[in-house]
Amino acid sequence: MKHFTSIADVNDVNQLVEQAISFKANAFQPELRKGKKVGLVFLNPSLRTRLSTQVAAQNLGAEAIVLDIGKDGWALEFEDGKIMNGDKAEHIREAAAVMGRYFDVLGVRTFPSLTDKATDYSETLLQSFLKHAGIPVLSLESGTRHPLQSLADLMTIKEHWTKDRKPKVVLTWAPHIKALPQAVPNSFAEWMMHADVDFSITNPEGYNLAPEFREGVSVYHDQAAGLAGADFVYVKNWSAYEAYGQVLSQDESWSFGNDQLALTNNAKVMHCLPVRRGLVIKDEVLDSANAIHLDQAENRVYAAQSVLNELLK
Ligand code: CP
Repeated sequence: MKHFTSIADVNDVNQLVEQAISFKANAFQPELRKGKKVGLVFLNPSLRTRLSTQVAAQNLGAEAIVLDIGKDGWALEFEDGKIMNGDKAEHIREAAAVMGRYFDVLGVRTFPSLTDKATDYSETLLQSFLKHAGIPVLSLESGTRHPLQSLADLMTIKEHWTKDRKPKVVLTWAPHIKALPQAVPNSFAEWMMHADVDFSITNPEGYNLAPEFREGVSVYHDQAAGLAGADFVYVKNWSAYEAYGQVLSQDESWSFGNDQLALTNNAKVMHCLPVRRGLVIKDEVLDSANAIHLDQAENRVYAAQSVLNELLK
């Protein structure tokens, strides 16, 4: 595996998941990638991705160094050919290339603008790092995808599924007060489309994901119909794709509580975190045995460890 920016970079998804599960059973193996250096560059805030990737690197004997580039680094210019007479002090051509000389792998977190669909969906920022770093690049979430989260999600579903049939997995939209990226639901959908599961989506009118992230997937605009018989429900807010980046609805009847859970097959309930309690998922579900969001968060360590082990080979 040369880079890890989407499922398309992965040669063998099952092997990556099985390796993550085996790291969970035996995490500390410092001889594996001893002496390797991992740079983790954040253009946006993070709790889980930052900490889990650092722990993962340590478990492999590698050192992870974090740069909050939005706070501690020079403001970056991404546009080529520009005369830099504004507030941007350093071009990505130099910044990424320099980091490429310090590290063996470079992790990068970027968020979408949610105002310019074309720029966000062409992954301009991530592509600039890929082009100029000269070393393997690890997405720590980008404009359109969050593959480390999705790998941990798939691992969590595998851990919790013991029956001899495909689980029914449903991604449901939930309300939020802010416009959030589509990266987590896009990525989850992309990984579920490749997994051995029966996958569908439920969201209000106007909230369909981009066509490439729901090809062949049933989409229900009636949440009750979408949730019927689900074994796993992934609850997540996202802003509109068509009316790009807009909050079209804050309909709290889509908040996931016991009424929604009752429609499912006693589903395990998932969320990538951070979650706004009471709004996205109600406390009655988050504090119940059905909620597996903390398992997902824990598995972020082993998902990152599995990916870093491959990228640092
Ligand atoms: N789920 C997730 O990526 O969390 P952070 O934004 O805290 O890293």
